[in-house]
Amino acid sequence: MSQTRQDAPPAPVLAVDGPSGAGKGTITRLLARRLGWHLLDSGALYRVLALAANRERVSLDDIDALAALAQKVRVRFVSDEAGGERIYLDGEVVTDEVRTERAGDAASRIARFQEVRDALVDLQRSFARPPGMVADGRDMGTRIFTDATLKVFLTATAEERARRRHKQLKEKGIDVSLAALSRDIAERDARDAQRAVAPLVPADDARVLDSTDMSIPQVVDRIVDWLSERIEIPPVGQA
Ligand code: DC
Repeated sequence: MSQTRQDAPPAPVLAVDGPSGAGKGTITRLLARRLGWHLLDSGALYRVLALAANRERVSLDDIDALAALAQKVRVRFVSDEAGGERIYLDGEVVTDEVRTERAGDAASRIARFQEVRDALVDLQRSFARPPGMVADGRDMGTRIFTDATLKVFLTATAEERARRRHKQLKEKGIDVSLAALSRDIAERDARDAQRAVAPLVPADDARVLDSTDMSIPQVVDRIVDWLSERIEIPPVGQA
């Protein structure tokens, strides 16, 4: 696939890509906290843009209007006291709205368009600031941060990802069959890996980490170990 070159980022970047349900959100949040680095949740940018489109009555199929909107929206992520993240769209908190299934669905529709993806490139790169940044997404290593210090492709079997998602939904009181979830995930994987625009594939120089049989702390430790092979990082608690 084509990999756009970029100028060297102004700070070290740890790019974590992979399919839904691989645990990227949890792992990248913990990594950012452990390292004392900034976090870019690139999926949230697609979600916020979809939300902005909805508010401005821009159709999710109007590629030009979406690309223009992407240049205009002001998105900010602010860490809250509980270790979570507050998302602002043009000064308004939209965290909960952005996390809904509806926003995820809309995000996936607009993420198919090359023009929309192009319009978000500079914004995503602007998040790379000292002392460093952890970037969570699908094309962080292949397109946005091609010079990342370390690229990790985090994955797990479709069954395990379905199991994790099932547990998550159950905790929210939503009952769906594990078999159906498993099937959906396998189908989505095939579609994501084969789509023409920004297919989900590991960068050539990514290290693939299969988290199926690993605990969350094990995954975090493994990635920190890999990173410390490349750059000097402060010991735990001193980041
Ligand atoms: O990771 P997420 O569920 O918040 O992502 C929302 C949607 O955006 C999902 O359908 C994949 C898409 N996406 C993308 O195409 N490229 C990214 N870098 C991040 C997310």
